[in-house]
Amino acid sequence: MLTAPRSSLFLIVAIDGGAAAGKSTTARALSARFHFLHIDTGSHYRALTAELLRLGVAASDPAAVERALTGLALGSEVEGRRAAITVNGRLVPDAELRAPAVNAAVSHFAAIPAVRAALLAYQRDQARIGRENGFAGLVMEGRDIGTVIFPSADFRFFLHADPEERARRRAAEGQQDSIAERDRLDSSRKTAPLVCPSGATDIDSTFLSLDEVVERVSAPIAARLAAA
Ligand code: DC
Repeated sequence: MLTAPRSSLFLIVAIDGGAAAGKSTTARALSARFHFLHIDTGSHYRALTAELLRLGVAASDPAAVERALTGLALGSEVEGRRAAITVNGRLVPDAELRAPAVNAAVSHFAAIPAVRAALLAYQRDQARIGRENGFAGLVMEGRDIGTVIFPSADFRFFLHADPEERARRRAAEGQQDSIAERDRLDSSRKTAPLVCPSGATDIDSTFLSLDEVVERVSAPIAARLAAA
Protein backbone atom coordinates (compact mmCIF):
# COMPACT_ATOMS: atom_id res chain seq x y z
CA MET A 1 0.00 0.00 0.00
CA LEU A 2 1.24 3.48 -0.84
CA THR A 3 1.48 5.93 2.02
CA ALA A 4 2.16 9.65 1.80
CA PRO A 5 5.84 10.44 2.29
CA ARG A 6 6.60 11.64 5.80
CA SER A 7 7.82 15.00 4.52
CA SER A 8 4.34 15.84 3.16
CA LEU A 9 2.98 16.13 6.69
CA PHE A 10 2.81 19.78 7.78
CA LEU A 11 1.13 20.26 11.15
CA ILE A 12 -0.59 23.45 12.23
CA VAL A 13 -0.75 24.11 15.96
CA ALA A 14 -2.83 26.99 17.35
CA ILE A 15 -2.12 28.35 20.85
CA ASP A 16 -4.50 30.96 22.20
CA GLY A 17 -4.80 32.60 25.59
CA GLY A 18 -4.65 35.85 27.53
CA ALA A 19 -1.60 38.00 28.21
CA ALA A 20 1.23 36.20 30.03
CA ALA A 21 -0.62 32.87 29.98
CA GLY A 22 2.58 31.10 28.84
CA LYS A 23 1.87 31.04 25.09
CA SER A 24 5.23 32.33 23.83
CA THR A 25 7.39 30.07 25.94
CA THR A 26 5.27 27.07 25.03
CA ALA A 27 5.26 27.96 21.32
CA ARG A 28 9.05 28.44 21.31
CA ALA A 29 9.54 25.06 22.98
CA LEU A 30 7.28 23.32 20.42
CA SER A 31 9.08 25.07 17.59
CA ALA A 32 12.45 23.80 18.87
CA ARG A 33 11.25 20.28 19.57
CA PHE A 34 9.39 19.64 16.31
CA HIS A 35 11.09 22.12 13.95
CA PHE A 36 7.93 24.18 13.49
CA LEU A 37 7.95 27.77 12.27
CA HIS A 38 6.95 29.97 15.22
CA ILE A 39 4.64 32.93 14.66
CA ASP A 40 3.69 35.30 17.46
CA THR A 41 0.61 37.13 16.15
CA GLY A 42 0.66 39.49 19.15
CA SER A 43 3.81 40.96 17.58
CA HIS A 44 1.81 41.61 14.37
CA TYR A 45 -0.72 43.71 16.28
CA ARG A 46 2.13 45.37 18.17
CA ALA A 47 4.02 46.20 14.96
CA LEU A 48 0.94 47.78 13.36
CA THR A 49 0.24 49.67 16.59
CA ALA A 50 3.82 50.99 16.76
CA GLU A 51 3.65 52.06 13.12
CA LEU A 52 0.23 53.74 13.46
CA LEU A 53 1.39 55.58 16.60
CA ARG A 54 4.49 56.77 14.70
CA LEU A 55 2.17 58.09 12.00
CA GLY A 56 0.16 59.91 14.64
CA VAL A 57 -3.01 57.89 13.98
CA ALA A 58 -5.28 57.31 16.99
CA ALA A 59 -7.31 54.15 17.65
CA SER A 60 -10.27 56.41 18.43
CA ASP A 61 -10.39 57.32 14.70
CA PRO A 62 -11.08 54.00 12.87
CA ALA A 63 -11.53 55.75 9.50
CA ALA A 64 -8.03 57.26 9.77
CA VAL A 65 -6.69 53.85 10.83
CA GLU A 66 -8.28 52.25 7.77
CA ARG A 67 -6.76 54.90 5.48
CA ALA A 68 -3.32 54.55 7.04
CA LEU A 69 -3.41 50.74 6.69
CA THR A 70 -3.67 51.00 2.90
CA GLY A 71 -0.16 52.53 2.92
CA LEU A 72 1.40 49.72 4.97
CA ALA A 73 2.90 46.74 3.11
CA LEU A 74 3.41 43.65 5.27
CA GLY A 75 6.24 41.17 4.80
CA SER A 76 7.94 38.32 6.68
CA GLU A 77 11.53 37.74 7.67
CA VAL A 78 12.47 34.24 8.78
CA GLU A 79 15.15 34.32 11.48
CA GLY A 80 16.02 30.91 12.84
CA ARG A 81 12.71 29.18 13.62
CA ARG A 82 10.73 32.38 13.87
CA ALA A 83 9.12 34.57 11.21
CA ALA A 84 8.89 38.24 12.11
CA ILE A 85 6.64 40.80 10.47
CA THR A 86 8.04 43.71 8.48
CA VAL A 87 6.05 46.88 7.83
CA ASN A 88 7.07 48.71 4.65
CA GLY A 89 10.27 46.64 4.77
CA ARG A 90 11.09 47.63 8.35
CA LEU A 91 11.57 45.06 11.08
CA VAL A 92 10.12 46.78 14.16
CA PRO A 93 12.66 46.38 17.01
CA ASP A 94 11.55 44.37 20.04
CA ALA A 95 12.02 47.36 22.36
CA GLU A 96 9.47 49.25 20.26
CA LEU A 97 7.02 46.33 20.18
CA ARG A 98 7.11 46.07 24.00
CA ALA A 99 7.13 49.82 24.74
CA PRO A 100 4.58 51.00 27.37
CA ALA A 101 2.79 53.16 24.75
CA VAL A 102 2.26 50.07 22.57
CA ASN A 103 1.17 47.96 25.57
CA ALA A 104 -1.43 50.60 26.37
CA ALA A 105 -2.75 51.06 22.81
CA VAL A 106 -2.52 47.63 21.18
CA SER A 107 -5.85 46.21 22.39
CA HIS A 108 -7.64 49.33 21.15
CA PHE A 109 -6.16 48.98 17.65
CA ALA A 110 -6.72 45.19 17.70
CA ALA A 111 -10.46 45.77 18.26
CA ILE A 112 -10.78 47.65 14.94
CA PRO A 113 -12.16 45.28 12.24
CA ALA A 114 -9.97 46.88 9.51
CA VAL A 115 -6.83 46.08 11.53
CA ARG A 116 -7.88 42.44 11.95
CA ALA A 117 -8.85 42.23 8.27
CA ALA A 118 -5.41 43.58 7.29
CA LEU A 119 -3.76 40.70 9.15
CA LEU A 120 -6.07 37.77 8.30
CA ALA A 121 -4.68 36.71 4.90
CA TYR A 122 -1.15 37.64 6.00
CA GLN A 123 -1.37 35.32 9.00
CA ARG A 124 -2.87 32.43 7.03
CA ASP A 125 -0.09 32.81 4.48
CA GLN A 126 2.52 32.03 7.15
CA ALA A 127 1.78 28.33 6.57
CA ARG A 128 3.08 28.70 3.01
CA ILE A 129 6.22 30.40 4.34
CA GLY A 130 6.72 27.54 6.79
CA ARG A 131 6.38 24.93 4.04
CA GLU A 132 8.65 26.80 1.63
CA ASN A 133 11.32 27.12 4.29
CA GLY A 134 11.35 23.38 5.03
CA PHE A 135 9.62 23.44 8.42
CA ALA A 136 7.65 20.42 9.66
CA GLY A 137 4.75 22.62 10.74
CA LEU A 138 3.64 25.94 12.10
CA VAL A 139 2.98 26.93 15.70
CA MET A 140 1.00 30.15 15.84
CA GLU A 141 0.09 31.93 19.08
CA GLY A 142 -2.47 34.64 19.65
CA ARG A 143 -6.06 35.29 20.66
CA ASP A 144 -8.08 34.10 17.64
CA ILE A 145 -5.89 31.47 15.99
CA GLY A 146 -8.09 28.48 16.81
CA THR A 147 -11.33 30.41 16.23
CA VAL A 148 -10.64 32.56 13.15
CA ILE A 149 -7.20 32.14 11.55
CA PHE A 150 -6.88 28.34 11.60
CA PRO A 151 -10.14 26.86 12.93
CA SER A 152 -9.18 23.55 11.28
CA ALA A 153 -5.67 23.45 12.78
CA ASP A 154 -4.36 19.97 13.57
CA PHE A 155 -4.09 20.95 17.25
CA ARG A 156 -5.71 23.81 19.14
CA PHE A 157 -4.77 24.72 22.70
CA PHE A 158 -6.07 27.41 25.03
CA LEU A 159 -3.81 28.44 27.93
CA HIS A 160 -4.95 30.35 30.93
CA ALA A 161 -3.63 31.22 34.40
CA ASP A 162 -4.80 33.22 37.40
CA PRO A 163 -4.35 36.99 36.94
CA GLU A 164 -2.01 37.24 39.98
CA GLU A 165 0.29 34.59 38.55
CA ARG A 166 0.29 36.27 35.13
CA ALA A 167 1.08 39.68 36.66
CA ARG A 168 3.95 38.03 38.56
CA ARG A 169 5.33 36.56 35.30
CA ARG A 170 5.26 39.94 33.50
CA ALA A 171 6.91 41.67 36.46
CA ALA A 172 9.62 38.99 36.48
CA GLU A 173 10.26 39.88 32.82
CA GLY A 174 10.69 43.50 33.93
CA GLN A 175 7.66 44.62 31.92
CA GLN A 176 5.12 47.28 32.68
CA ASP A 177 1.86 45.89 31.30
CA SER A 178 -1.80 46.19 32.28
CA ILE A 179 -2.69 42.56 31.71
CA ALA A 180 -6.14 42.61 33.28
CA GLU A 181 -7.23 45.65 31.27
CA ARG A 182 -5.92 44.19 27.99
CA ASP A 183 -7.68 40.89 28.67
CA ARG A 184 -10.91 42.73 29.43
CA LEU A 185 -10.69 44.62 26.12
CA ASP A 186 -9.57 41.55 24.13
CA SER A 187 -12.36 39.38 25.56
CA SER A 188 -15.15 41.90 25.16
CA ARG A 189 -14.52 43.18 21.62
CA LYS A 190 -17.04 42.32 18.90
CA THR A 191 -14.60 41.06 16.25
CA ALA A 192 -12.68 37.85 17.06
CA PRO A 193 -12.80 38.13 20.87
CA LEU A 194 -10.48 36.13 23.09
CA VAL A 195 -12.42 32.93 23.86
CA CYS A 196 -11.48 29.30 24.25
CA PRO A 197 -12.17 27.81 20.78
CA SER A 198 -14.85 25.14 20.98
CA GLY A 199 -13.17 21.74 20.91
CA ALA A 200 -9.74 23.15 21.90
CA THR A 201 -7.68 21.63 24.73
CA ASP A 202 -7.95 24.00 27.69
CA ILE A 203 -4.90 24.07 29.99
CA ASP A 204 -4.71 25.96 33.29
CA SER A 205 -1.03 26.79 33.76
CA THR A 206 -1.36 28.54 37.15
CA PHE A 207 0.11 25.67 39.12
CA LEU A 208 2.09 23.97 36.37
CA SER A 209 5.76 24.47 35.61
CA LEU A 210 6.65 25.50 32.11
CA ASP A 211 8.03 22.01 31.47
CA GLU A 212 4.70 20.49 32.51
CA VAL A 213 2.75 22.77 30.15
CA VAL A 214 5.12 21.98 27.29
CA GLU A 215 4.83 18.26 28.02
CA ARG A 216 1.01 18.36 27.93
CA VAL A 217 1.00 20.24 24.65
CA SER A 218 3.78 18.17 23.06
CA ALA A 219 2.47 14.71 23.91
CA PRO A 220 -0.37 14.52 21.35
CA ILE A 221 1.81 16.13 18.67
CA ALA A 222 4.63 13.65 19.25
CA ALA A 223 2.07 10.82 19.08
CA ARG A 224 0.69 12.10 15.78
CA LEU A 225 4.18 12.40 14.29
CA ALA A 226 5.12 8.92 15.51
CA ALA A 227 2.01 7.49 13.84
CA ALA A 228 2.66 9.28 10.50
O1 DC B 1 0.26 38.40 22.79
P1 DC B 1 0.47 39.89 23.07
O2 DC B 1 0.23 40.23 24.50
O3 DC B 1 1.79 40.37 22.57
O4 DC B 1 -0.67 40.60 22.19
C1 DC B 1 -0.79 42.00 22.14
C2 DC B 1 -2.23 42.37 21.82
O5 DC B 1 -2.52 42.04 20.48
C3 DC B 1 -3.30 41.73 22.66
O6 DC B 1 -3.60 42.47 23.81
C4 DC B 1 -4.48 41.66 21.73
C5 DC B 1 -3.87 41.64 20.37
N1 DC B 1 -3.94 40.33 19.71
C6 DC B 1 -5.13 40.01 19.09
O7 DC B 1 -6.09 40.76 19.17
N2 DC B 1 -5.21 38.86 18.37
C7 DC B 1 -4.17 38.02 18.28
N3 DC B 1 -4.28 36.89 17.56
C8 DC B 1 -2.96 38.32 18.95
C9 DC B 1 -2.88 39.49 19.68
